[in-house]
Amino acid sequence: MWAELLPVGRSSASGGYRRYAWTPADTDCRTWFREQAEARGLTYETDRNGNQWAWLGDPAAGDAVVTGSHLDSVPDGGAFDGPLGVVSAFAALDELRGRGARLTRPLGIVNFGDEEGARFGLACVGSRLTTGALTVEQAHRLTDGDGITLPQAMEAAGHDPETIGPDPERLARIGAFVELHVEQGRALDLSGDRIGIASAIWPHGRWRFDFRGEANHAGTTRLADRRDPMLSYAETVLAARREAELAGAVATFGKIAVEPNGVNAIPSLVRGWLDSRAADQESLDTVVGGVEKAAREYAAAHGADLDVVRESFTPVVEFDHALRDELARILGGDTGTDLRVPVLGTGAGHDAGILSGRVPTAMLFVRNPTGVSHSPAEYAAEDDCVAGVSALADVLEGLART
Ligand code: GLV
Ligand code: MN
Ligand code: MN
Repeated sequence: MWAELLPVGRSSASGGYRRYAWTPADTDCRTWFREQAEARGLTYETDRNGNQWAWLGDPAAGDAVVTGSHLDSVPDGGAFDGPLGVVSAFAALDELRGRGARLTRPLGIVNFGDEEGARFGLACVGSRLTTGALTVEQAHRLTDGDGITLPQAMEAAGHDPETIGPDPERLARIGAFVELHVEQGRALDLSGDRIGIASAIWPHGRWRFDFRGEANHAGTTRLADRRDPMLSYAETVLAARREAELAGAVATFGKIAVEPNGVNAIPSLVRGWLDSRAADQESLDTVVGGVEKAAREYAAAHGADLDVVRESFTPVVEFDHALRDELARILGGDTGTDLRVPVLGTGAGHDAGILSGRVPTAMLFVRNPTGVSHSPAEYAAEDDCVAGVSALADVLEGLART
């Protein structure tokens, strides 16, 4: 499975993945998912929001155990963020069948669409639509960098956009969702463990900062006469770093758009996207409030106008304690003590976080020796991935028998 997915959507220039929602690379990933489902005799379906499902047993029976993740990527992403959870789901099912496991609950494998939000700016679109966290009206307003709307992109990829919307009946059939994911930090490497269990996801969001000034000639416009928005943007980047350090949080300007984007023109517009995350809501508010206040002062000082728009937000997620304890018990052996499984929080967002308000949800992390993620250098050793599959199989078996 891993070898089949590796070339899909991979840039030969960067070695990274460009699997953006509703593009041909995404379609290839979706075809792969469908083929995996059908090869195993699972019941395959695409839901109204374009998420893909593969079922063993009848989901209408309810109280299903579901596992999976996503196949899309950030720009020049790694191979593991997302696909490891989907590949491991199919591999865990194979292992359960090999063990002759008897499951009394339906088992589902899911590929959530557009988790990274690389194309339309909002993460977890598939799961947000399903839970209603993203309304149909909001979804219709999502536009990519070329001005193509989400419904247009869906339609072009063969999915009927008229069907999108909340899917409470689908959610009601799920008794537990477990997402396996490559760790995106080094906690497991430092503790010497292959596998961890998630405790919580930091609150996080994306804010768009539009600094508007005046386009003019880079050679003939006196410095004193300029209204250059790049200056206030640059100072704001430094302010974000400072505010994050003060609050023990993180803040990143990782994407920027400049108009007219000419070497010899003072910009008329600098648009920067702030991604910020913190352990608690108060710290996050402090960081973003501080960055915005500083940005307004810098913009005023340089004769620029500033608009700040919150494009997405996900509150803190505390994963279901009972399910988390059940995972620890299953993975820890009968006594729960002979195998220590660390429990860790994360600053990364996941579909599991979106679902957690509606369904008992848990996550398993697989060791990442460098902690690098959202980069072609993202890595997990084969032994650790196999340990992840085995742990996931144990968890699914433990849950689906109860
Ligand atoms: C998704 O990976 C995110 O945390 O941005
Ligand atoms: Mn990611
Ligand atoms: Mn992910």
